[in-house]
Amino acid sequence: MKVLGIETSCDECSAAVVEDGEKILSNVIATQIPFHAPWNGVVPEIASRKHTEWIYAVTKEALDKAGLAAADIDAAAVTGRPGLLGSLLVGLCFAKAFAWSRGIPFIAVDHMLAHLYAPRLIINNDTGAENNQARPEYPFLGLLVSGGHTIICRADSFDGITVMGTTIDDAAGEAFDKVAKHYNFGYPGGAVIDKMARNGDSGAFRFPLPSLHKGDHRYDVSYSGLKTAVVNQLEMFKVKKGEHTNEDIAASFQKTAVDILLRALLNAAEDSELTTIVAGGGVAANSSLRSRLAERSDLRCIFPPLELCGDNAAMVAGLGYQYLARGEQSPLNVTAQARVSGFKKKYP
Ligand code: KG4
Ligand code: ZN
Repeated sequence: MKVLGIETSCDECSAAVVEDGEKILSNVIATQIPFHAPWNGVVPEIASRKHTEWIYAVTKEALDKAGLAAADIDAAAVTGRPGLLGSLLVGLCFAKAFAWSRGIPFIAVDHMLAHLYAPRLIINNDTGAENNQARPEYPFLGLLVSGGHTIICRADSFDGITVMGTTIDDAAGEAFDKVAKHYNFGYPGGAVIDKMARNGDSGAFRFPLPSLHKGDHRYDVSYSGLKTAVVNQLEMFKVKKGEHTNEDIAASFQKTAVDILLRALLNAAEDSELTTIVAGGGVAANSSLRSRLAERSDLRCIFPPLELCGDNAAMVAGLGYQYLARGEQSPLNVTAQARVSGFKKKYP
């Protein structure tokens, strides 16, 4: 079954074709970064407008790259939640129209579950070589880290997750973005800080970890304290002007940001006795997070390839296939949801 996936939840306009839930036939990602960069953040109205302008051409390119015509597509899947409402609506309406006009099934899926599904996808690159990483088997511990969410969960199936911990304030990616914005490091902040940190001293500043490691909050994270410390209170960490570089700030912040994630994640791994960890979301591209988890010989850590960490439609098509294979579809009057209610300890 060939599923067309559409993803427009934030600032990537993406369309993909995935066969039988795993094999990527095409995955076109048109980034809007240059249009949001002047504001150092995503401007929702610009995002919706760009999706409206681009979605047809991006979909056409995805079909062309897969060597297929619209008539060859068996079903359409789209991100229906969570995300920027105006952006979600563009993809949702486009996918509905595609499915309705072709008389094929349509499914709206959850963006975070799609991120968790990404490591199951098989990339068949131009040389014909497939990514040969081990695909995760359930159950596993999920680490979902994006610009809007930070979720540590037990995953028993593609849609059967039990949330163990979340952020109690900012998401991990949001913290990277806010620090980068404050210092004018560039946009988007995560990738920029990751790059700068390679040339910095991560021990230059020692920021405190939040006191969240006990009781109900054992698997939760918090980033607002770190962000405030890095943004407003750097002098408290004995900065002498000119003594430290921006790279030192980036490296010290990144080290603490990853420390915060790992402390909650390792608590969850210890208590759940799950030894396989599957990461997803934009922050899963972080080189420090990837290398520090790779060092753990007691855990099997599976990360999506870098190109599937951020927002992409292949993960949406792959996840959509799983619902369709179970005989499920969405009604054509389904609407977008900016937030997923009650995700604190039970998501979705
Ligand atoms: O999943 P994603 O592409 O979009 C959302 O669903 O939010 O995640 C975007 C987030 C942004 O906050 C971005 O700064 C962060 O992922 N990010 C990174 C890296 N690459 C992207 N954070 C840390 N290190 C990176 N290398
Ligand atoms: Zn995302």
